[in-house]
Amino acid sequence: DASDIEKGTYPHYMLKEIDEQPLVTRKIIQAYQNDNNELTIDADIIQSVNDTDRIYIIACGTSYHAGLVGKQFIENMAGIPVEVHVASEFSYNMPLLSEKPLFIFISQSGETADSRSVLVQVKELGHRSLTITNVQGSTLSREADYTLLLHAGPEIAVASTKAYTAQLAVLAIFANVTAASKGKELGFDLVQELGIVATSMEALCDSKEGFEDIAREYLATTRNCFFIGRSLDYYVGLEGALKLKEISYIQAEGFAGGELKHGTIALIEEGTPVVALATQESVNLSIRGNVKEVAARGANPCIISMKGLEEEDDRFVLPEVNEMLTPLISVIPLQLISYYAALHRDCDVDKPRNLAKSVTVE
Ligand code: G6P
Repeated sequence: DASDIEKGTYPHYMLKEIDEQPLVTRKIIQAYQNDNNELTIDADIIQSVNDTDRIYIIACGTSYHAGLVGKQFIENMAGIPVEVHVASEFSYNMPLLSEKPLFIFISQSGETADSRSVLVQVKELGHRSLTITNVQGSTLSREADYTLLLHAGPEIAVASTKAYTAQLAVLAIFANVTAASKGKELGFDLVQELGIVATSMEALCDSKEGFEDIAREYLATTRNCFFIGRSLDYYVGLEGALKLKEISYIQAEGFAGGELKHGTIALIEEGTPVVALATQESVNLSIRGNVKEVAARGANPCIISMKGLEEEDDRFVLPEVNEMLTPLISVIPLQLISYYAALHRDCDVDKPRNLAKSVTVE
């Protein structure tokens, strides 16, 4: 309950929750370690994952965006096919299911009605389910067969921040432990890599002024803003656009870099802000090509890249982390830019108009 959680010296819960991300990441590492410091999850869950032929992730909003990244984690590390669905669409457009599906519900609150209604449906069909949630004892947690907790502490601001990175960390651990149970060699130590992520998050939270500058420079008066990226950066761009629309009311869209030419580029006008993420080596040249295309049509590009891939005009260079885990850190600049944009535009950061923290109606 908001009244029980103090903002302390913070002007807004959102800023406090953004700053909590390094700590939450460390808490999650601890919570999922056994006495030998190995990552572990409930044996029943592992059993169910090893029995499944396909995972279906069901979620809404920010949790859906976490699911898109989670699919890559699970497919790349554990080698299990994954589909990600928006809960509301799934109900009336249920895809043909595999023989032995496992459903994963991602929900910060554990109360979202759209996701609950899918859970009711798939339980009737007799399928297994796992809820990844921040709230122990929440409806989705009680109704599913298994639960993995986010350990993020209460999230009060309507715009989700620390729950998103916590969802990514837990999904990475889930994928990693599953991979280990299948005897797969991944060639990296996730505990160590997540530790590096936490340290990098701290560095980003200490760079707030830079992000305030970006917000002022690009977003003080604009009507719209685009986020582009390829591969994992595309998914983070979707989340960045959602954050910006939720709290600053700027019309924002996230696009896959390769899709620009199929329509969106028509929207680029003189001065249109385009935030481009460039953290993935395999698509670095292509995304930079997209930046040139929009710049040639008058856009005002803001490139956020990662150490090792940076170029001269980049506006911000993220510290280097494991390439698969970049969404855990590349989202932080986008959260902070949205926060400062909302602030500059005199918006109610923690309680944006028309939105609720948890939506318990379909
Ligand atoms: C609401 C919130 C969003 C959230 C979504 C899903 O729309 O405003 O921030 O992402 O619900 O919530 P959940 O609790 O299921 O993650």
